[in-house]
Order: sequence, then structure tokens, then C-alpha cells
Amino acid sequence: MSESLSGQLALVTGAGRGLGRACAEGLADAGARVIATARTASDLEALAAHDSGRIETWTGDVTEDAFVERVAAIEGLSILVNNAGANRPQSFVEVDAESLDFVLNLNVRAAFRVAQAAAQAMLRTGGPGAIINMSSQMGHVGSPKRSVYCMTKHAVEGLTKAMAVELAPHGIRVNTVAPTFVETPLTKPMLDNPTFRDFVFGMIPMGKLASLEDIAAAVMYLASPASSMVTGHSLRVDGGWTAQ
Ligand SMILES: NC(=O)c1ccc[n+]([C@@H]2O[C@H](COP(=O)([O-])OP(=O)(O)OC[C@H]3O[C@@H](n4cnc5c(N)ncnc54)[C@H](OP(=O)(O)O)[C@@H]3O)[C@@H](O)[C@H]2O)c1
Repeated sequence: MSESLSGQLALVTGAGRGLGRACAEGLADAGARVIATARTASDLEALAAHDSGRIETWTGDVTEDAFVERVAAIEGLSILVNNAGANRPQSFVEVDAESLDFVLNLNVRAAFRVAQAAAQAMLRTGGPGAIINMSSQMGHVGSPKRSVYCMTKHAVEGLTKAMAVELAPHGIRVNTVAPTFVETPLTKPMLDNPTFRDFVFGMIPMGKLASLEDIAAAVMYLASPASSMVTGHSLRVDGGWTAQ
């Protein structure tokens, strides 16, 4: 993958920590110029210290109009990693309205609007493009305490297929990466619970969590010319969780 994305301009949302950060670093290492975004400036400053020198940072909230307008105005955008997302595990009958709205707003509405703005920027550029929406294995199956999260990630899968069909004639490919559990600031509090950790390991035939590198590699494949005939696909990086 060395320098294979040279000349590309990538936008990565949720790049301050976790999966987004690993993707931003991987894309920059592969030669792309990267706009890395999140709300927390200190996380982005740490990322910018990454030695490639190709990472520009933006502090902003993906749920806000100003952020979406800024994305639509990017010149030369060719890759979007639409990654910012969250989860608030609650049993179905106890989901409160505020949590429902919070997760829907971030995982579905903001993901839709950022993807739309990026597609507008790519269409204006006129060149080929690759959009990778960060889904989850929970975009394919159900799981306890994940009704809202599963609903949002199934929505991301549907959005991806519809976008892929509509944007294919313009040379813009749209795919998802659907990870199993990776230890990040989002999931560490969940995985610190021994009962939940045992449940997770029991569900993964490979017997291990995915690594940040596993997810970044899948994203970089879908961003690269190696996947030039792949669109509307969900690349499950789940150690077999959803194969059962
Ligand atoms: N970790 C896993 O096991 C796993 C598995 C499957 C799918 N995923 C998906 O992968 C994505 C990333 O997960 P993660 O585990 O890396 O999460 P994370 O560690 O919590 O990191 C999330 C990133 O998104 C940013 N973010 C959150 N809300 C934002 C907002 N409103 N505007 C802009 N940036 C925002 C956060 O920074 P700020 O708070 O500073 O904004 C942070 O940089 C999510 O879509 C998640 O659903 C994760």
C-alpha cells in the first residue's frame, strides 16, 4: 500500500481517536493528503504530530450545518471515511428518547449529510471518488442492548447501497467497513466488563478482537484502485461473528 494513494485528498471524520485516527494515519502513510476532523483539538494535535506531514486537522462537529457546508466546499476531494459515530447500549424497553435522538442524529443524520456533502464536492471535482461509510457487524445482525445502534448501522448499510447505485455512473464508489469489536475509547468501558468480554470472545470464531490495523487495512483497500470494481459492498472485518 506504500504511496499507493499519492495525489489523493481524503477526509476522515472522527479522526481524533480510535478507528478514525488509525484510518487517517494509514491513509497518510499511503501517500494521501488527509483532512482529519473531530471536536477535541488536543486529540487532533496529537494526530498531526504523526510524522508523514500530510495531515491537516479541522476541529468541528459533524452534526452542525457549518461543518457540512465546509465539507461541500472542499476542492479536489477524492476519499471520504465517514467514521464519526457513537453507541449508548441500553435494553430496548429502557431506551430513553434523548439517547435515541442522540445516536440517530450522529450515526444516521450526520453520516447522511457528510456523505452528501462529500459527494457534492467529488462531483464538482469530476474525478473518481471513494466513500467508505463506517458501519459495524451490528449493521448485519442484532445483539442485546443494541436496538438503536443496530438500527443506525443497518441504515448506514442501506444508505450505502442506494448511494452506490446512484453515484456509480459518476465514478464514485460507495462501500462500508463493518468491524467486530475493536478496543477503542468507545468500547473499552464495555470490554472492561468480564461478562461482556466473555460474550464477545464467545461470538468471534477467530477468538480475538479486531485490531485498529485490521480496520484501517480494509478502509485503505476500499479507498484504493485495488477495489476499483467494488461498490455497494459491506466488508465485514468480524472474525466470523456474522458467519454463524
Ligand atoms: N470500536 C469498535 O469496536 C467499533 C466496532 C464497529 C463499528 N465501530 C464504529 O466505528 C466508528 C468509530 O468508533 P471508535 O470506536 O473509534 O469511536 P471513539 O473511540 O469513540 O472515537 C470516535 C471519534 O469520533 C469523534 N466524534 C464523536 N462525535 C463527533 C461529532 N459529533 N462530531 C465530530 N466528531 C465526533 C470523536 O472525537 P470528539 O469526541 O473529539 O468529537 C472521536 O475522534 C463509529 O462509527 C463506530 O460505530 C466501532
